[in-house]
Amino acid sequence: MCGIVAACFKKGDVVPTLVEGLRCLEYRGYDSAGLAVLASGLPVRKAKGRVQDLAALLEEDPVPHSSVGIAHTRWATHGVPSKVNSHPHRSGSVVLVHNGILENFEELKESFLEGGTEFVSETDSEVWASLLDHELTKIRAEAPLDSLGVMKALNRAMAKAKGSFGLAILVEDLPGRIFFARHESPLVLGISDKGHYVASDVQAVLKETHDFIYLLEGNCGWIDDSSYQVFDRDLHPIEAKVEHLDWDAESVGKSGYDHFMLKEIEEQGIVLANTLSSTTSSKDRILPDFQVSEDTLRSFDRIVIVACGTALHAGRLGRFILEEAAGIPVDVDFASEFRYRNPLVGERDLILAISQSGETADTLGAVKVAREKGATAVAICNVRGSSLCRLVADTILTQCGPEIGVASTKAFTAQVLAIHLFAMRVGMARRQMGEEELLRRLNVLRASRTAIETLLSSEVRSHIAEVAKKYAYKSVYFFLGRGPDYPIAMEGALKLKEISYLHAEGYPAGEMKHGPLALVSEDMVVVALAGQGETYDKVLGNMQEVKTRGAKLVVLTNTEKKEAIELADDVILVPRTDPLVAPLLHVIPLQYLAYYVALERGCEIDKPRNLAKSVTVE
Ligand code: AGP
Repeated sequence: MCGIVAACFKKGDVVPTLVEGLRCLEYRGYDSAGLAVLASGLPVRKAKGRVQDLAALLEEDPVPHSSVGIAHTRWATHGVPSKVNSHPHRSGSVVLVHNGILENFEELKESFLEGGTEFVSETDSEVWASLLDHELTKIRAEAPLDSLGVMKALNRAMAKAKGSFGLAILVEDLPGRIFFARHESPLVLGISDKGHYVASDVQAVLKETHDFIYLLEGNCGWIDDSSYQVFDRDLHPIEAKVEHLDWDAESVGKSGYDHFMLKEIEEQGIVLANTLSSTTSSKDRILPDFQVSEDTLRSFDRIVIVACGTALHAGRLGRFILEEAAGIPVDVDFASEFRYRNPLVGERDLILAISQSGETADTLGAVKVAREKGATAVAICNVRGSSLCRLVADTILTQCGPEIGVASTKAFTAQVLAIHLFAMRVGMARRQMGEEELLRRLNVLRASRTAIETLLSSEVRSHIAEVAKKYAYKSVYFFLGRGPDYPIAMEGALKLKEISYLHAEGYPAGEMKHGPLALVSEDMVVVALAGQGETYDKVLGNMQEVKTRGAKLVVLTNTEKKEAIELADDVILVPRTDPLVAPLLHVIPLQYLAYYVALERGCEIDKPRNLAKSVTVE
């Protein structure tokens, strides 16, 4: 959940790179930040608040120029957001930054306190520093300390630490090297002529290099300005694979938009094209590199989708897509519920885990539980090399490029597309679909880009901005949909909740009369998805129910639906398209609606309060 960036340069000051790297990682957490450099006394600077506040502190009270440093931006788990609780943390000769949770920190802290160690913070990370410093003291007693001695100490500490960690470490008597280790929290190494980097993810140093090593579970080692060494958990040196990433630094920036979220909403046409082109061969073969064989796909009785948040809404829509295209029963569950309910899954079940970051603790936990019970797991994910990708039999990559806005938008669209492709693949394997129908669907998906671009046009955007302004100060929103539009209604509600802090619910339209109708008042806005499909008439009835009781009615529909247009207080027109892609189109106006309501209310769009982009804690 926190962001780590560290670097060893051949020459030049490392601080500007560390601060810029933290800025790119703020979406992982932004309640405090700090850095330390290799200079006499291992100077540390920390600030509560955003990276900007740390930068201001460094202006006033700079650290000495140094070519080696570690830095961190925090999302508080243990200990309130404060200067003293921010990282780096020091204990004796160790200064470190930590992403993760040290689950046994109380018992460790107690034993260190008994031994006379003093602590200044409430954090588990400071205990991690103390754990490593204790192990280093033992190693020094055996022989003069060298890098291998540090690795031995680190390895012993890793064995004693329970819980997740991504670490970047300075050791006072081993200048010039930064040590690292990862378990369940992501870490990558960056490789460049200028030097080497350790970071929570590639975005932190994409402006410096495109060559990365994705560290695996249990990997540890060191970097210096001209070399690096990676070990496995048993301290065997490993030849780690360097991957070249063609994401450009531009794609990490806002490219002129006011907010990442708006940029990412408007990238959805390109994302559709990229995802389709990267997952179909020139001969229109679907997912040509997908490793799970057709025989294996035929062997399953059920697909179980596990995910969180927006990814779960893609999964709920995916159930309609998969059951229709592949003729296989599909269950969908919150990953955070699935993993603890002793789920009845086994080898006849295929788990489909959906995650933008590939680091969501609950989704990873759900996959681990299912695999322990003999199920096969595959994933839809946006980050190559993420923990989820390493946990499953195979992954469909969504090729969105970095999604920075905490409120997920383009990743949702790409996830739904990936589900369509997966459903076609499974449908073919299970002889539910022939080549002709597959090609028809592929062409429908490709053609949907035109409709998406229509919705991304400036006139649609300004109309929705007007509607948003009109209703921005209402206090309750209900999003209503039926069938495949129900998950879209849920997604629209989540978008509004998480960036405008308004109470919003996505609800099956048919359920309103079973209770929520009692809530309807003049202060309620009902957004009804009445686009197309056989339930249109039913949704029309639900719209009448809420309208006669005083709710303000915003309706998503197409030009042919005169009654819906008549009934609405405000209409958002969506192009009429093949039922295969209609729900996908409906989500775009809802993303814009949330964005413009939040903007009108002066909310922080890209980094909403209390949230973080990747929820790597449970
Ligand atoms: C969505 O807008 C939220 N940011 C959140 O619900 C997110 O979808 C959820 O945490 C899952 O993240 P993942 O896709 O990276 O696993």
